[in-house]
Amino acid sequence: MHVLVTCKCNLSVAFVRLRCNHRVALIPTRKAGGDMLLKDKVAVIHGGGGSIGGAAARVFAREGARLFLVGRSRPRLEAAADAARAEGADVSVALVDAMDETAVARHVDEVADAVGRIDIALNAVGFDHVQGLAIGETSLEDYLHPVVGYLRTNFVTAKAVSRHMIAQGSGVILTVSTPGARLTGRGLLGNAAQSAALEGFSRALAGELGPDGVRVVCVRPHAMPDALATSYTRAMFGRSAEAGGVPFDEWFAGLADMTLLGRLPVLDEVAEYLAFAASDRARSMTGAIANLTAGALVD
Ligand SMILES: NC(=O)c1ccc[n+]([C@@H]2O[C@H](COP(=O)([O-])OP(=O)(O)OC[C@H]3O[C@@H](n4cnc5c(N)ncnc54)[C@H](OP(=O)(O)O)[C@@H]3O)[C@@H](O)[C@H]2O)c1
Repeated sequence: MHVLVTCKCNLSVAFVRLRCNHRVALIPTRKAGGDMLLKDKVAVIHGGGGSIGGAAARVFAREGARLFLVGRSRPRLEAAADAARAEGADVSVALVDAMDETAVARHVDEVADAVGRIDIALNAVGFDHVQGLAIGETSLEDYLHPVVGYLRTNFVTAKAVSRHMIAQGSGVILTVSTPGARLTGRGLLGNAAQSAALEGFSRALAGELGPDGVRVVCVRPHAMPDALATSYTRAMFGRSAEAGGVPFDEWFAGLADMTLLGRLPVLDEVAEYLAFAASDRARSMTGAIANLTAGALVD
């Protein structure tokens, strides 16, 4: 006799055969191969233990990718890896400083040597930085911290993976910007400069690597409420609210009020978009800045 547990969704179902010869379905987690957006793609995620990096890892895993998660803190990386493995993925983690050109290149080379290719590279590294202060109250160091940090790490990781992607004639580099790229107002100088520069970097890199079959897509999400528990953004936005003399909840709710949809995006939405952008279904998309601001900005 066979006991079949019917799956109500479209996911594939693994069966175990018990000694009594009954078959019992395991909880379905992973899509059937043919339905997977990223089946057998090799993805390296810098900042893989972070809020966006971890969310992307889960979705990339569900979509069939082989994952290499890179960051500085092992507990955060292991937690993200466990969540991705629960989706059925093969996941490796490595401690690498994403600002260190030599270390990043060495790790990327090791990945390429081990599995033969790198199809997707997501840089989801994030740095706490100063927002909310006027120019007269901002030190040069605080202003430059996000500018140098984001531009350095994205250059370092893109340079390391692009060598392999050019050689294989394909690949997707994903970067993450912020609405500051297009906003104006007090207290945004470092954030605006780094975000606009990162978008410019992504556009220019797309033009450079396009003839080699390598795509570059930048996503620009607004602040995500479900990232606050794990992201550097909670401390950063908290200081901005304090500088404005507004309670944090009120300050953060004000961000949603300024969007067309009256709400902010959530991590899974950004991760789903990243998976699509990384997939062959988006093969005509490059040099694009994806506006995931829920309408805080219109194009
Ligand atoms: N959260 C939001 O609402 C939001 C909105 C728009 C855009 N973004 C953008 O999304 C990106 C990620 O933000 P997030 O919210 O996911 O940040 P997060 O949760 O704080 O994660 C940041 C990650 O970056 C890693 N990291 C920092 N410095 C590193 C270094 N030198 N080498 C390697 N890894 C390093 C951290 O690793 P360790 O923990 O090991 O240090 C952490 O895993 C940023 O570019 C940010 O601007 C975020």
